[in-house]
Amino acid sequence: MQPDQMPAADYASVRKPSPHDSAIKHVTGEATYIDDIREPAGTLHVVPGWHRDAVCGRIKSVDLDAVRAYPGVVAVLTHADIPGKNDCSPSFGDDPVLAEGNIQFHGQAVFAVVAETRDAARRAARLARIEVEEHTPILTVDDAVGADITVMPDYQFRKGAPEAGLASAERKLSGRLMIGGQEHFYLEGQAAMAVPGEDGDMFVHSSTQHPSEVQHTVSKVLALPDAAVTVEVRRMGGGFGGKESQANQWAALAALAARVTGRPCKCRLDRDDDMIMTGKRHDFRADWTAGFDAEGRIRAVDMKLLARCGYSADLSLGVVDRAMFHADSSYYYPDAAILSRRMKTDTVSNTAFRGFGGPQGMLAAERMIDAIAITLGEDPLTIRKRNFYSAGRDVTPYGMPVEEHHTLHALIGELEEKAAYWARREEIRSFNASSHILKKGLALTPVKFGISFTLKHLNQAGALVHVYTDGSIHLSHGGTEMGQGLYQKVAQVVAEEFGVSLDRVRITATHTGKVPNTGPTAASSGTDLNGMAAKRAAEMIKARLIAFASAHYGVEAEAIDFRDNKVIVGNEAIDFGALAKEAHLNRIQLSAAGFYATPNITWDRPTASGRPFLYFAYGGACAEVTIDTMTGEMRVDRVDILHDVGKSLNPAIDIGQIEGGFVQGMGWLTTEELVWDGKGRLRTHAPSTYKIPTASDVPEAFSVSLYDSPGNPEDTIYRSKAVGEPPVMLANSVFCAVSDAVASLKPGVVPELDAPATPEAILKAVAAIKQAEATGR
Ligand code: MTE
Ligand code: MOS
Repeated sequence: MQPDQMPAADYASVRKPSPHDSAIKHVTGEATYIDDIREPAGTLHVVPGWHRDAVCGRIKSVDLDAVRAYPGVVAVLTHADIPGKNDCSPSFGDDPVLAEGNIQFHGQAVFAVVAETRDAARRAARLARIEVEEHTPILTVDDAVGADITVMPDYQFRKGAPEAGLASAERKLSGRLMIGGQEHFYLEGQAAMAVPGEDGDMFVHSSTQHPSEVQHTVSKVLALPDAAVTVEVRRMGGGFGGKESQANQWAALAALAARVTGRPCKCRLDRDDDMIMTGKRHDFRADWTAGFDAEGRIRAVDMKLLARCGYSADLSLGVVDRAMFHADSSYYYPDAAILSRRMKTDTVSNTAFRGFGGPQGMLAAERMIDAIAITLGEDPLTIRKRNFYSAGRDVTPYGMPVEEHHTLHALIGELEEKAAYWARREEIRSFNASSHILKKGLALTPVKFGISFTLKHLNQAGALVHVYTDGSIHLSHGGTEMGQGLYQKVAQVVAEEFGVSLDRVRITATHTGKVPNTGPTAASSGTDLNGMAAKRAAEMIKARLIAFASAHYGVEAEAIDFRDNKVIVGNEAIDFGALAKEAHLNRIQLSAAGFYATPNITWDRPTASGRPFLYFAYGGACAEVTIDTMTGEMRVDRVDILHDVGKSLNPAIDIGQIEGGFVQGMGWLTTEELVWDGKGRLRTHAPSTYKIPTASDVPEAFSVSLYDSPGNPEDTIYRSKAVGEPPVMLANSVFCAVSDAVASLKPGVVPELDAPATPEAILKAVAAIKQAEATGR
């Protein structure tokens, strides 16, 4: 039997629901976040300063005298204090650490105050006098389309002959969906502490998903070689993509302050500042046209995805590409044109957010399917299934075949039964027939999410494993822990390899001095990449131990086995630590660096060809909602989820990721609304005005199960599948269910409902549909 196919009971550590390594520390408050690290004597505090009103324009003058004079202020920094490059961009070199010449969005950092206390720094920062010659800002996607300004060129996938396909289709429909952005609302805000060392060295503690990039940014800003900068991350109190690139600036400011003052410096953003100064999920305008037959089978699609990128490129190339890669959701488009535009606006630069554009692309596809179903008077699930990828209808708009369509069919079929979809459809129909104010809606939507970074070189990882002579194991890898359970999963892998209990594996902080040149922990690939790298490191040490034991004890290598904290050597069982000690005495190396690069990915962006993903993760969700047509209030009554994680490495952690991802997606699509005023100032910059889901928003009936998978067909770590982001898109079911409830008011009319479906948006959609004629729409 293949080791991958062994029953879960045959494994000691993997495929077990062991708790998150920090679970108890999280709930007791003992877990150390950046601001909890004991401050070295003399630590100073850095607070960025910005113009409270100006949105964009030329900086005429900056008067910082009053800031400098404030008691406790040690230094005030501007771009002129930067010895290296004034840039913290992850991509195009267009993100100044401190504004120079112009303010590009409301909230852009112009200077930084370094003071003895955080309070003094915050008070002093308010005393700046900055004069700006403002110009009229370009704020929205529509504004930017009017001005024709983008952060980078448009990009397109083309498959077949979409124009001819649309022209020859029996039926045709067009629509526009506005999709809102989302604030990350990580519980720990952006934070970094820099400690200067000898010879200009800088040690940086940062709350980042990408320690290597913080290292590069700090060395670039301080004009140091990378080797002079070390970055360590034990954990983040949430990242969600918001710390993939946008932790750079705050680490750079802390390091700059440490360089200028020669003292340890800490920068922790105030929550309101964090919300105003850092980028969010991109909001999108999706314009679509679908050609289809009388059965609702799609013939051709023309989709235009326009994203608000903000003032700079940041990660918008990859984010918007991923929206394009998911503009098919789970549906086969025989012919397609998928165009993307990255609109440049005078607003904060939008960035990675769980799903990385995928959710926006998929939601547009779900709207399109709903519109087709409503127009044909069919159930949306029928139209969904009719368009699913299947044998012979399995090539995506970007040319990659969907090989595992049987998983999609099996999973959705099972969920349909589990959720009793058709019986409840009937119940809801009769409920709606007799209920005039409250209306129910139901939707079952699929998830198919591509796993791998579409930027190929990011698909690599390293790990460092040491076995000490007492048999305890030190584990470090390039992945970062943001709550998702990566450290625990990789520790399980290492424990499994050595046949030792989990408590023998010491999880340690991610450190650029131990594992260099890493990619970000992102694209849900943390476990796939780092788990493999750690496995390889462990295998190397194990191979040396086996060779040693075989020679030393005169036993065949095949008769050596690692289990139960012992090494079985022929007829003897030696304690793992005793063997490590013996090996050491015989001068065997007990440390190894493992490396992994994802195979089989060949995507070439310039020609839009090749295979971007190693595999897809699948899922399905069925949501039932009730709306109040008088007030627009909405309640999610019941949600059933079935999700595919291949063979789970840790079912407890995976279910946690599915629940959390779904609820976060539900927040995005229902209550989390970002509001900018007419001048481009974010008005929703605190929890008082920005509503994330709380425990009480979790659906009353909420059932999450793992799909009983035979394992990832690809040779991933213990045949598991990535789980971090795909569950966000399970929440599309909630949006579609709300739309279904509105649609029940007038058969045949597609609701004018944009995302997020706040009570206001629902009420507007209800009003519009009540006015609409059932025909001609
Ligand atoms: N889960 C928690 N608790 N906190 C987080 O910040 N980030 C998500 C997801 N799950 C996140 C999370 C995002 S955006 C990604 S890309 C993945 O975790 C990253 O981790 P992984 O690759 O190890 O899954
Ligand atoms: Mo996740 S958006 O890929 O950090």
